Amino acid sequence: MTTLATVDRSDMLGAIATLPSQLRDGLVRSEDVRVDIENSWPADSHAGVARPRTLVVCGMGGSGVGADLLVAAFQLRSPVVPVKGYDLPEWVSDEDRVVCVSYSGETSETLSCMRAAMERSVVAAVITTGGKLASIATAQDIPVVTLPGGMQPRAAVGVLFGALAGVAEALNVVDHAGEVVEEAARGAESVIEQHGTTGDALAEGDDAPPALRFARELDGTVVCVYGSGPTAAVAWRWKAQINENGKLPAFANAYPELNHNELVGWERATTGGTRWSLIELVSADTSSPVRARMDITRELIASEVGATLRIEAVNTSRAGSVFELLTWGDYVSVYLALLAGIDPSPVERIRSLKDQLAGR
Ligand code: PA5
Repeated sequence: MTTLATVDRSDMLGAIATLPSQLRDGLVRSEDVRVDIENSWPADSHAGVARPRTLVVCGMGGSGVGADLLVAAFQLRSPVVPVKGYDLPEWVSDEDRVVCVSYSGETSETLSCMRAAMERSVVAAVITTGGKLASIATAQDIPVVTLPGGMQPRAAVGVLFGALAGVAEALNVVDHAGEVVEEAARGAESVIEQHGTTGDALAEGDDAPPALRFARELDGTVVCVYGSGPTAAVAWRWKAQINENGKLPAFANAYPELNHNELVGWERATTGGTRWSLIELVSADTSSPVRARMDITRELIASEVGATLRIEAVNTSRAGSVFELLTWGDYVSVYLALLAGIDPSPVERIRSLKDQLAGR
């Protein structure tokens, strides 16, 4: 008999339920490097490390999303610049700080940025389970926040974010990391508590958990996820999770920019028979003008889109709404895989690509 456990072999559903404890754990783990960071950089006239001009966070995929979420969830004291590629921007100098994040510690783009940042003596810390990134950092006395192993990087988003928040606080780039991480945990909890009794099969009708009902509406369509401001980063997370967990194409974009280009692209969206659906992510930060744009856009593209779901965060704090909406997306993406009888965890094509690159 096919049960959920035989499809979701690595228990990706269970991993989502650990997001709140991961968030808190990440912050605790960052405490290990706080003193090292404070001793490595010049002190402020008040307290702590002198605030850098920017904090550059290098990381790819599931490890890179933490930087986007930091920007979305915190009021920053210095700009945070996510770098997702091989090259550190030329302008990065000793006025800036760099944090390199790689769950495996083996990602070539992140290692390339790490080497460039070491040459400029600007690496504040690395966040990883180990691998080359940890070895290189340890050899140079660069602080390492060590993450728990054995997860898919994208499933470790809680511990990655908590650790990055703690490092950013040690660098004086954010304040009140503990409070914000707690809000994020409560945001995730508010969704997890609606999905606690999944059972051993995919429930039908009203017995189904809400994210499974959403997934049934989206099944068989190409999903577009639209956000704005802080929810734009979450829209991208939804897209990446539908890609990696659901093994499906998906797209993300942000208001108001999409009204100046992608809106027109919908005119021929169903050419070739593609069926589309739309998710709108809304939070207390979504302004009236943006809500009006969402309403009008929805009407303008109604004939091209099937299911249209607006998910409005009930948590009113920024971090709470970001992690609430993120958790919805994580569940929906896993259920899209399970509805197709596919294990959400393996990402064979990423593994194959990395293997082939290593051979060149
Ligand atoms: O979720 C995944 O497996 C990927 O998006 C990885 O996070 C990405 O390939 C980068 O690898 P790592 O997180 O180990 O640096």
